[in-house]
Amino acid sequence: MTIEIRPTGGALGAEVLGVDLARPLNDADFATVRQAWFDHLLLLFRNQDVPAAQQAGFAARFGELDGVPGWRDKHAAGEENILIISNVKQNGEALGVLGDGELEWHTDMSYMPVPPSVSMLHAREVPDSGGDTHFMNMYAVYEALPAALAEAVRGRVLNHDSSYDSSNNLRPGAKEVTRASDAPGAHHPLVRRHAETGRAGLYLGRRRNAWVVGMEEAESEQLLDRLWAFARRPEFAWAHQWKAGDVLMWDNRCTMHRRDSFDPAARRVMHRAQVKGEAPLAVESVAA
Ligand code: OGA
Ligand code: MN
Repeated sequence: MTIEIRPTGGALGAEVLGVDLARPLNDADFATVRQAWFDHLLLLFRNQDVPAAQQAGFAARFGELDGVPGWRDKHAAGEENILIISNVKQNGEALGVLGDGELEWHTDMSYMPVPPSVSMLHAREVPDSGGDTHFMNMYAVYEALPAALAEAVRGRVLNHDSSYDSSNNLRPGAKEVTRASDAPGAHHPLVRRHAETGRAGLYLGRRRNAWVVGMEEAESEQLLDRLWAFARRPEFAWAHQWKAGDVLMWDNRCTMHRRDSFDPAARRVMHRAQVKGEAPLAVESVAA
């Protein structure tokens, strides 16, 4: 069967047909999939019955697998590199991480010096409704920025706060942040050039405690509020309603995502793989 790439028709994403992720892809098919991922930022493979080891094997073709510090006890049985994302409790203990609440817009682990490239979820159990995941195309946001905002972000660096997670909980060991300019985290260019596609995108990370390095707090807040209000326009986003068997992989270098909450009594179990990326590259010059 030949591979078919079917774009969602929305702001980003494509479905890949004709691939069984439980078997290794040959090099030509892998090259097709990788190029489609660059072109569409997010890929969906439906009806996948893929064991954790094979999911990790597929993810590893995109680069070195990335463990998730602090969550070592939440991996799939026998698969250290597959993290469980779930609200399910067994004997009072959480099977995985991230619970059932809403997750605000973010890109994964941008508070680290070297954030991941790929995040990949395999839906094993999903609720009948709720828990949809929304994605934003950050190339499109950057390309559409009004001239004044494009000028305001040029050459700027953002601090990505490491204190709070996307459910607004303090991370273990972190201290409460009262001024964004004091927040710990990583500095990255606000306009990021993708190392593999060469395209420029806005790299916002997450809103809470973000700080445009070197700016007065009030000025930074005002610029970030304007950027976020622009980015949140519906035309830059696309939402996925999960079915069991879906494998969805996105590129953290040029997308953000958020998740709707869901019924705590429902079961949602995802297997997650992550691939190491590179230190974000700045866009040296913006074409006139
Ligand atoms: C993640 C994440 C969203 C979801 O795994 O990084 O944000 O839908 N998950 O569970
Ligand atoms: Mn995430």
